[in-house]
Amino acid sequence: MIRLEQETPEDWWEVENLFDLCFAPGREALSSYRLRDDIDPVAELCLVARDEGDGVGAAIRFWPVRVGETPALLLGPVAVHPTRQGEGLGGLVIREGVARARRAGWRHVLLVGDAPYYGRFGFSRLASVEMPPPTNPERVLGLNLFEDGKELRGRVTRWDA
Ligand SMILES: CC(C)(COP(=O)(O)OP(=O)(O)OC[C@H]1O[C@@H](n2cnc3c(N)ncnc32)[C@H](O)[C@@H]1OP(=O)(O)O)[C@@H](O)C(=O)NCCC(=O)NCCS
Repeated sequence: MIRLEQETPEDWWEVENLFDLCFAPGREALSSYRLRDDIDPVAELCLVARDEGDGVGAAIRFWPVRVGETPALLLGPVAVHPTRQGEGLGGLVIREGVARARRAGWRHVLLVGDAPYYGRFGFSRLASVEMPPPTNPERVLGLNLFEDGKELRGRVTRWDA
């Protein structure tokens, strides 16, 4: 059985450990992290999935950013413990995080990731959005949370820029 809960301050380092385990060393050198430095994630959208033994099976965080003048969410990091991958936990935390974001009134989510994976959640290439370099433009993906959501375009900048 999996419990999906909002991340608490006590979860922070356990979640960091999961990200360290799942991503290549030096993940924080990625340019997308410069959009996150010293900015709080959107707490109510950060989720932790714990298993029967209380271990962290999966976690997801979201950060606020701007695309041009438009507020948007940067999805990630998201990771699933190597022993639990392929069981649907990634899909669970992504779908639930996105559903909560929609309920909270956010209009746009973007991320840097693999289109073949995120396509199943409705994400597609954002050709007119520019992440801080160096980012492979093919990996910049987005999802409008409302039908009438304007198409995102412009440079992605920090929330406090
Ligand atoms: C990517 C990740 C979050 C997926 O979570 P998961 O719980 O393993 O995936 P799910 O069970 O929800 O989905 C499994 C499906 O996704 C596919 N999939 C997983 N990673 C994929 C990828 N990078 N590209 C394409 N498909 C992928 C699997 O092949 C499987 O396909 P199927 O349903 O056709 O069999 C997880 O594997 C992970 O943490 N990986 C390491 C960290 C990482 O890469 N994070 C994402 C950064 S962009």
